[in-house]
Amino acid sequence: MSIIAFFSKESNIELQNLWENRLQAYSPSIRLVPLLSNEAHDATIALLWKPPLEKVKKLSNLKCLISLGQGVDHILKDNIIDYDMPVIRIVDPFMAKSMSHWVILSVLNYIRDTFGYDYQQKNKIYKARKEIDFTSLKIAVYGVGAIGSVVAKDLTQLGFEVEGWSRTEKNISGINCYSGENRFKVLLKSSDIHVCLLPLTPATKNIFNNLSFKMMKHGSCFINAGRGEQVVEEHLIVNCKSGHISSAILDVYREEPLPKNSKLWEQQNVRIWPHVAAETNPETAAKQIANAIKCIENGKMPPNTIDRKVGY
Ligand code: NAP
Ligand code: GLV
Repeated sequence: MSIIAFFSKESNIELQNLWENRLQAYSPSIRLVPLLSNEAHDATIALLWKPPLEKVKKLSNLKCLISLGQGVDHILKDNIIDYDMPVIRIVDPFMAKSMSHWVILSVLNYIRDTFGYDYQQKNKIYKARKEIDFTSLKIAVYGVGAIGSVVAKDLTQLGFEVEGWSRTEKNISGINCYSGENRFKVLLKSSDIHVCLLPLTPATKNIFNNLSFKMMKHGSCFINAGRGEQVVEEHLIVNCKSGHISSAILDVYREEPLPKNSKLWEQQNVRIWPHVAAETNPETAAKQIANAIKCIENGKMPPNTIDRKVGY
């Protein structure tokens, strides 16, 4: 029997049962117990999304932590779990495609000025708006890993000129890829649409701030589905207010759920999505999680174990 402590946002027994059911299809001996229950003290592995980390820290039999998403910042947050233990993440092509659909939707909404037409419909205005010349648009994708590389390739398939940015050098067919701070600045200055798909680490925290927004061309579009803490939201709001950033399409926020009093809600040219760009799908992700559990039980390092030194 493999006892797994489970937590996803809150204690959600229905979701726990769904995951247990999917995991048991690959390994019938897996049993999920709520992280907040006494049974969790027997768990050797924890399956987590935004857990109360102090509770996780109290479970002394744990050998490994598995993220219920592709990002792991919610587990590494504030360095509370400071001891060495493998942290595994999901890498699911379903999620990469799902993100790709969301980014394409966002890019096309910008190009076809959906915000403007929404306004016109509300006010019964039947009028063509100024078209953006899509033939000369340049799109920068910041973070071309498991998700960003698929997004970048799919955007090129639509005929867009796409450039990628990563920490280490990358070679992706059809996409000019760059790394390093200087190249980050070049992309900020030369692109029309900026898509952030970076993991949250000390190096990417607040990376989109007044300085970076000011480097972007006047009228740029900013799309963020990485993490909220990569953006200084007050700086984004100022730049959206002035029209320097003509549209911002956001899926992630410094505080989630986005507080009711956030100024982002009030901004006409900001589109708010509630962290749904690429949701974890138990159907497609269960097999790799069951495999990770098996690896840990057999003393092997599972695929998609993160590198703690770089934080993703
Ligand atoms: P990944 O495979 O680890 O790719 C991350 C990419 O970011 C890599 O290209 C990496 O460079 C680059 N990177 C990391 N640190 C960098 C730095 N300091 N400077 C420049 N580039 C840097 O991650 P993924 O699976 O694609 O996921 C990326 C993020 O998307 C997740 O961490 C999560 O925050 C977010 N996400 C959001 C949703 C949503 O619904 N909104 C869903 C899933 C994931 P290298 O290639 O050189 O390593
Ligand atoms: C979602 O944000 C994820 O990291 O999978």
